Amino acid sequence: MAQLLITGGAGFIGSHTCFSLLEAGHNLVVLDNYSNSSSVVLRRVAELVGLKDCKRLKVLQGDIRSKEDLDKAFSAGEEPVTAVVHLAGLKAVGESFNRPLDYWDVNVTGSHSLLRSMQRHGCRTIVFSSTATLYGLPKEVPIPETFAVQPINPYGHTKAAVEQLLGNLVNSEPGWRIACLRYFNPVGAHPSGRIGEDPSGVPNNLFPFVSQVAVGRRQELQVFGADWPTPDGSAVRDYIHVLDLAEGHSAALEFLQREKPQLLILNLGSGRGYSVFEVVRAFEQATGREVPYRIANRRVGDVACSIADPRVAQELLGWQTKRTLEEMCQDSWSWQQANPLGYGCAE
Ligand code: UD1
Repeated sequence: MAQLLITGGAGFIGSHTCFSLLEAGHNLVVLDNYSNSSSVVLRRVAELVGLKDCKRLKVLQGDIRSKEDLDKAFSAGEEPVTAVVHLAGLKAVGESFNRPLDYWDVNVTGSHSLLRSMQRHGCRTIVFSSTATLYGLPKEVPIPETFAVQPINPYGHTKAAVEQLLGNLVNSEPGWRIACLRYFNPVGAHPSGRIGEDPSGVPNNLFPFVSQVAVGRRQELQVFGADWPTPDGSAVRDYIHVLDLAEGHSAALEFLQREKPQLLILNLGSGRGYSVFEVVRAFEQATGREVPYRIANRRVGDVACSIADPRVAQELLGWQTKRTLEEMCQDSWSWQQANPLGYGCAE
């Protein structure tokens, strides 16, 4: 088992990925600046894994743009870091239009600074958190990895730039093992309800919004468009349970460590789409709560349908999603019920 550095390990995807990697036997150093997360999260991850030994999970508060913070992180483990799982970054599409400098700074400069540190510390294996947002307005679904990268927002531009940089790097010197994982729509939570998604302010994304309506924190869901060219008129997405996604990271890492150095680009999705109305119904069934909604205008920048072609990940990694929409709803709900205000000032 390896000594890994996880950037952004306290976030929604990060916390579940740390859980999976610890369960798989890896030792972790987490570097997180808590800009959109909290120090409570990793204590809960340690508790879920039943960690008695704090040597297996070292947590540092710090920033990927700081050489000093990165140097500390690379030296914090029991053993030298052999691979990095890079999840730190800013990720709100709407916000990225208003704060492009911040998005380029954190996502691109931050990744560049991390890669420089990796070079200094002799570590050349990295799993990078990328996104299906790179596909922009896809011509058809399902979407294979070979579709053009044509992001339509600054967030997507920053992720595309990092993928480009990683491609340059792999061609520049031998030994780099790199996986870019293009996530579709990660949702759900660990079934314990101890860790989950904790957006600050009004949630942008469907699942946290629906959960907050069901728990009574918000009055009603706005369905952004019921006139899309889809079977029921609402938009269709490929939702993936965050624990399936987390396991995708372990599988990608194992592949990189086993195979020859290369750049691997993979979709992580289920290959199955659900509409907004289907999600609302599934959520109501899973929770026994009503989710009042009204039809609103389409949201700028949305597409009718986004579904992964997940076959490359299946073939290369032997990985595929296992958890159902019902489990995604149930687990989101367990988290929401147990933590109606998110992590708040919880311990
Ligand atoms: C969004 C991001 C994407 C990111 C993903 C993470 C945008 C344009 N894209 O994808 O970059 O990787 O989250 O999960 O923000 N919806 C409603 N009402 C709501 C919220 C959402 O009807 O209050 C609809 C949306 O119009 C969409 C679907 O639900 O059709 C899913 O929306 P969301 O969860 O925000 O995900 P995406 O927009 O697909």
